[in-house]
Amino acid sequence: MSTLLLLITLTFLINLQTSISTDTLKPNQSFLDGFTLISSNQRFEFGFFSPGNVSQDRYLGIWYHNLPLTVVWIANRNHPIRDSFGKVSLDEYGVLTLYNRSLGTVWSTDNKRVASRFTPVLQLLDSGNLLIRDDGRNKTIFWESFDYPTDTLLPDSKLGRKLDVGLQRLIRSWKSGEDPSDGEYWFSLDPPEAPQLVLRSGSRKLFRWGPYDGNSFSGSNSLTANPLLQYMFVYNSQEFYFKYEILDDSVLSRFVISSTGLIQYFTWRVDSSKEWNLLVTFNSDPCDNYANCGHYGICYSLSSCKCLSGFMPNSPRDWGLFSYSGGCRRKHDLNCGHGDGFVKYNALKFPDNPIVWGNYTNHICEAKCLQNCSCMAYANVDVYGNNGSRCVVWIGDLVDMKNFPDGGEEIYIRMAHAELQSISGARRKHATVKIASIVIVISILLLCGGAIWYLGWVIRHRRNDQIGRGIKAQQSGSFRYIEDNQDSGFQLPLYDLETIFLACNNFSERNKIGQGGFGSVYKGELSNGQEIAVKRLVEKSIQGVEELKNEIILIAKLQHRNCYIFGSGNDNLVKLLGCCIEGEETMLVYEYLPNKSLNNFIYDKPTRKQLTWRKRCHIIKGIARGLLYLHQDSRLRIIHRDLKTSNILLDSEMNPKISDFGIARIFGTNQMQEMTKRIIGTYGYMSPEYAMNGQYSVKSDVYSFGVIVLEILTGDKNWAFHHPDHDLNLLGHAWMLWNRRQPLEILDPVIVQDPSYENQVIRCIQVALLCVQQYPEDRPKMSTVYAMLSYDNIELPEPKEPGFCRESYTKKFDTSASDSSTVNDVTMTTLGGR
Ligand SMILES: *[C@@H]1O[C@H](CO)[C@@H](O)[C@H](O)[C@H]1NC(C)=O
Ligand SMILES: *[C@@H]1O[C@H](CO)[C@@H](O)[C@H](O)[C@H]1NC(C)=O
Ligand SMILES: *[C@@H]1O[C@H](CO)[C@@H](O)[C@H](O)[C@H]1NC(C)=O
Ligand SMILES: *[C@@H]1O[C@H](CO)[C@@H](O)[C@H](O)[C@H]1NC(C)=O
Ligand SMILES: *[C@@H]1O[C@H](CO)[C@@H](O)[C@H](O)[C@H]1NC(C)=O
Ligand SMILES: *[C@@H]1O[C@H](CO)[C@@H](O)[C@H](O)[C@H]1NC(C)=O
Ligand SMILES: *[C@@H]1O[C@H](CO)[C@@H](O)[C@H](O)[C@H]1NC(C)=O
Repeated sequence: MSTLLLLITLTFLINLQTSISTDTLKPNQSFLDGFTLISSNQRFEFGFFSPGNVSQDRYLGIWYHNLPLTVVWIANRNHPIRDSFGKVSLDEYGVLTLYNRSLGTVWSTDNKRVASRFTPVLQLLDSGNLLIRDDGRNKTIFWESFDYPTDTLLPDSKLGRKLDVGLQRLIRSWKSGEDPSDGEYWFSLDPPEAPQLVLRSGSRKLFRWGPYDGNSFSGSNSLTANPLLQYMFVYNSQEFYFKYEILDDSVLSRFVISSTGLIQYFTWRVDSSKEWNLLVTFNSDPCDNYANCGHYGICYSLSSCKCLSGFMPNSPRDWGLFSYSGGCRRKHDLNCGHGDGFVKYNALKFPDNPIVWGNYTNHICEAKCLQNCSCMAYANVDVYGNNGSRCVVWIGDLVDMKNFPDGGEEIYIRMAHAELQSISGARRKHATVKIASIVIVISILLLCGGAIWYLGWVIRHRRNDQIGRGIKAQQSGSFRYIEDNQDSGFQLPLYDLETIFLACNNFSERNKIGQGGFGSVYKGELSNGQEIAVKRLVEKSIQGVEELKNEIILIAKLQHRNCYIFGSGNDNLVKLLGCCIEGEETMLVYEYLPNKSLNNFIYDKPTRKQLTWRKRCHIIKGIARGLLYLHQDSRLRIIHRDLKTSNILLDSEMNPKISDFGIARIFGTNQMQEMTKRIIGTYGYMSPEYAMNGQYSVKSDVYSFGVIVLEILTGDKNWAFHHPDHDLNLLGHAWMLWNRRQPLEILDPVIVQDPSYENQVIRCIQVALLCVQQYPEDRPKMSTVYAMLSYDNIELPEPKEPGFCRESYTKKFDTSASDSSTVNDVTMTTLGGR
């Protein structure tokens, strides 16, 4: 009897299941917790779920079918059902309602009851949009989930407003990873008069891009640069919106605002992905921090602030690298109506609070702005996209600008009469000097040019240079370059031997500035006055040539103009100017960086006094940025494999630049890890899995980065660390102090302690400890590291014991030899691994 009952129940359940396992729900139909609708392409699923694995609360929502739970939409985010007796039904009037156990309404769609001539039906579309529409011939849509996004924008869903019905479509973060209720961060496109993309926390603006300039939202370089994401902005009388499309059908993608306020773009390759790939975090440029540099301040890369020309800092003292709100004031006060005028500025992100005045010519726009004493700037901008340019003005002090060299905007800013005069004076002077110098340079060139050309011609025809299989020398007219046979994507200038010898004083000892693994580095000066650094191979060993070829291909690919660039990430990589390969000589020519490498500063008591906490932090962030660029912002994924302080060069403003790509490797986008039998690297910086098993991945660079950060903070070498009380290395020492809750004790004593940045220091130490974790999977990716260093609101995990923290390197090596010269690290090569 009971078996029969069970059978009947089962049959009933199965029937119910099959009747529901479509993508539609008809009027008077309902389903219970446990059943779901699945879109016809099997991508999306609609039903009940619990977020995280702790919470038992049930939510009605949409997620990806057959993927680890990734929720894209939630109906009742603020009203969870506490048990699994939820029920959802579509009534005959086309209203979808979610009921709890006692049939109380928890949530329902807000559409009007549809007239009886329609047959409403609920359908989960292939795009992930949930529709209530007419099932008859008239396909009128009564309601759609894309109008009420949660924290996710899917391809084709819209951010913006429906003007006719006054509906705002915005995304709002979850409160936490386990709690999908309304969080504090939201991202929207508004106001309707001149829409901008704005990220807010409550009512406070955090990031802003805009207004639209006909091509892109002003300042949104990372949004524009991604080839996998094509976005559009549409403005018409019914609605305006931002939406994106994905061009590759085998890639799932979502645009999400995280519970910590990051706007991120993830992709998932249908056939191969095992986890969501974070392609880009849009608010990762510290210069986009709202009003970072105050009134009339301009943010340069890495969040350094400068005043707009014609302005000076309100208070020069607190003008620095970190978020700064003091702003700038005019050198000459305005005098409305008495000679004020406008000065044109280029390459800026537009300031906030644009106002559209109408369809005027530039001339009329200027005149109107001049008449209104509060009008501080104007520009002609196609704010609505494809609808002709408008006179856009800014009333009151200008705020939230950044320097934006590629694709920045033209804006006319109001200036006092006195300032206008000083500018035109300076221009005249500048022009005179320029003409004079051009004349001199041309005469010199004419004199020397012939002789040099002849020398070059002789040498070119004497030698037929070719290194390796992959690179060969080319000639076009009098310009020589090398190019890659397999990938004709790059060209690199080839210098003549004579030129380089001349520039480097015949490689005299006086010009020598360093010694690398496979040769020495010399300073030189080209005939045009440009300073260069030349890396000269000791002898033409097979080894050296391979490394050199690798480096050339890698850097040249990085520098290649088709290589798309997020922000100015590659500012933190050293530039290769060219190379010289003739006879026995192989040399690489780089930009010269006057402050040499970081190791010259950091371990040396007198020089490191110059490195204040701010400077050190600036350097740390710069290295992180360069590495992030290598790992994921550039078109290629590059593992450096030999990061150490001597490979970090410093320019005249102490901006760090990563150098020496001799053993770097290019990874395929889906490749996670590689093995090598030949372990090359430097003790103290090598991650455990690489040093022991030859396994390397982006996470091995992260480990080296962590070591460098600790070295920068302490001024000590990891591998030569020595403490009277114990035998631990620097990592072990840091870990010990961390556990004793005295992390600050590790800080270099020459840094003046200041309570105002204690939290930053502790944060930095914690990030470094996370980077040097024993297991690669415990180390954060560089994108995460960079975000952790840039935003105080990101919560950091608690570090575990670092890898290799008990190793005492001092016992294994004779440190005295290494300390005595510029060669202050030991490069290790193990053949065969272990
Ligand atoms: C839905 O149920 C109501 C009341 O039970 C009934 O009057 C109506 O005809 C039903 N509608 C459909 C489309 O089945
Ligand atoms: C939740 O589940 C994931 C794996 O599915 C696990 O890694 C994590 O530790 C779990 N969290 C808690 C709090 O149990
Ligand atoms: C169901 O919802 C109603 C109305 O929202 C509420 O009054 C009632 O307490 C809820 N019942 C349960 C079991 O949660
Ligand atoms: C569909 O119905 C709407 C609402 O009644 C009406 O405005 C529209 O003209 C209809 N469209 C067609 C093609 O019948
Ligand atoms: C141009 O923009 C205005 C908003 O000022 C809008 O009302 C109008 O419909 C747009 N015209 C076109 C052709 O898109
Ligand atoms: C703007 O003004 C110009 C000249 O008056 C006119 O040709 C153009 O159509 C106008 N554009 C819009 C969008 O109104
Ligand atoms: C200047 O323009 C702003 C914005 O259109 C307006 O609110 C303000 O009243 C104007 N001021 C004067 C003095 O016209």
